Amino acid sequence: MASLGPTLSCTISRLNLLVELSHNQHTIRIFRALSCNSRPQKLFYHRRLFTSSFSSANFKSSTSNCSKTLGSNHVFNDNLVVLGIETSCDDTAAAVVRGNGEILSQVVSSQADLLERYGGVAPKMAEEAHSQVIDQVVQDALDKANLTEADLSAVAVTIGPGLSLCLRVGVQKARKVAATYQLPIVNVHHMEAHTLVARLCDRDLQFPFMALLISGGHNLLVLAHDLGHYLQLGTTIDDAIGEAYDKSAKWLGLDLRKSGGPAIEELARQGDAQSVKFSVPMKQHKDCNFSYAGLKTQVKLAIESKNIDAGIPFSSASMDDQRLRADIAASFQRVAVLHLEEKCERAIQWALEIEPSIKHLVVSGGVASNQYVRARLNEVVARNSLQLVCPPPSLCTDNGVMIAWTGIENFRLGRFDPPPPAIEPEDCQLDLRPRWPLGEEYSRGRSIARSMRTARIHPSLTALTQASEYQSS
Ligand code: KG4
Ligand code: ZN
Repeated sequence: MASLGPTLSCTISRLNLLVELSHNQHTIRIFRALSCNSRPQKLFYHRRLFTSSFSSANFKSSTSNCSKTLGSNHVFNDNLVVLGIETSCDDTAAAVVRGNGEILSQVVSSQADLLERYGGVAPKMAEEAHSQVIDQVVQDALDKANLTEADLSAVAVTIGPGLSLCLRVGVQKARKVAATYQLPIVNVHHMEAHTLVARLCDRDLQFPFMALLISGGHNLLVLAHDLGHYLQLGTTIDDAIGEAYDKSAKWLGLDLRKSGGPAIEELARQGDAQSVKFSVPMKQHKDCNFSYAGLKTQVKLAIESKNIDAGIPFSSASMDDQRLRADIAASFQRVAVLHLEEKCERAIQWALEIEPSIKHLVVSGGVASNQYVRARLNEVVARNSLQLVCPPPSLCTDNGVMIAWTGIENFRLGRFDPPPPAIEPEDCQLDLRPRWPLGEEYSRGRSIARSMRTARIHPSLTALTQASEYQSS
C-alpha cells in the first residue's frame, strides 16, 4: 500500500496537467509550430514563455500536499517520479528517480566491445548501438522501479553537449514516451547533470559552490551560482583529461573494456610515478584553463622511446615490459592530476573572491571516479578550508540518475516543455545541442585558443536561462 502513495499523487499531477493542457490549446499550437520550424535558440525563449503560463500554478497545487517551496536551495520532499534518459556518448542509460532523491532504478548499457574494437567512440557505430538497446534499457529501468510509463510525472533527456547522432536516439525515445503518455519533457544539459547529481548525493550542498567536471570530452571549472547559472572559470584548450587517459591506455596496450581510465588507474598502482619526467602542462599560464594534448604526445614519445609495442597486449608482455608500462601509467597519472590540482587551487581563489560564501568543491564526471584524483583533490580542498563533494563512481560516469535528478530540479522551477505532439513529422527538427557551453566565460579566465573556435556553438545554458528570466519578468 505504501508504494501506491507516490503513484497516486503522480497520477493526480498528470490529471491536472491534462486539464491545463486543454485550456491552453492555443499556446500548444504555437509551441508545436515552433518546435518543428524554429531554430533551437528561439525555441527555448518561447518555451519559457509557454511554461510560465502553463506550469507554476498547476504544479504547485498538484504537489502542495508534499512540497513546500520552489526555491532552488531548498530541500524538497515531493512525489514526482522522473525517468531520465542519457545517450550523449557511448553509454545508453536510463533511471527512475523520485523527487525526494530516492533512486528507484538505474540501468546502463555500455559499448565496451565497440570501444575495444575501435579504440575509441565511433559515432555511427555508437548511434547504432544506442538504437539497438534504448527500448530495452528504458523498459528495464521502469521494470526495476516497479512502475509503468503511466506512473511517471515527466521525462528528462540529455539534449547536449554530445554527439548529435547519439543524442538523437535518446531524444527520440524520450519524446515518444512523453507523447504517448502525455508527459512533460525536460531538456537536460549533460554537464549540468554531472554537477547537480552532487546535490542528490549531498543534501546539504547549497548554491553557490564550485565544480570541477572531468570527463572524456570536458574539463571544466565552474562557479555554480544557482540552477542554470554557471560562471566558467576554466576549460580545456584542446583535449580533456579523460581523453588523455583513454589514449594512453590504448597506446600502452591495456584492456579497454572498462574504458581507459580505470585501466590506467589500476596499472598506475604498480608503477613508479617519479620514473618518467613528464612536464606539467600550462605552468606559465596564470589562468584556470587546461591542456592535455601535449601530455598525450609526451606519453606517446615515452612509449616509443622505450620500444613498447602497443600491439602486444599488456597481459602478453614480458615482466620488464609490463613494469615499464606501469611506470609510464603512474607518471602520466601523477602529472595529469597535478595539472588539475594547480588549476583548481587558482580557481578556488578566484571563486572565493567572487563568492566568499562558497564552502564546497564538487568533483564529478567519469574521471572523478578515480581514487587517486579524489585523494589529491581532497588535499587541495582541505588546504583551502573547503569540503569535497564527490558522487559515488556509478554516479560520476554517465548515468540516467543524474539526468532524472536534473530533470526534477528544473521541473520544480517550471523549466520544462509540454508533451510533444502524438505524431511528429519525420523531418521535424529536433532540438539537439552538440556544442553547448554550460556557463558564460569569466573574463579573467578567457582562453584565446578556445575563443577562436566558437563556430557552431550554441548559446550557453546560463545565457539562455538569463534571457528567459528577463523575458518572463
Ligand atoms: O562522464 P563520462 O562517463 O563520459 C563523458 O561524458 O565523457 O566520462 C568518461 C571518461 C572516460 O574518458 C573514462 O576513461 C574516464 O571518464 N574514467 C576514468 C575513470 N573512470 C572513467 N578516468 C580515470 N580513472 C577512472 N577510474
Ligand atoms: Zn559525461
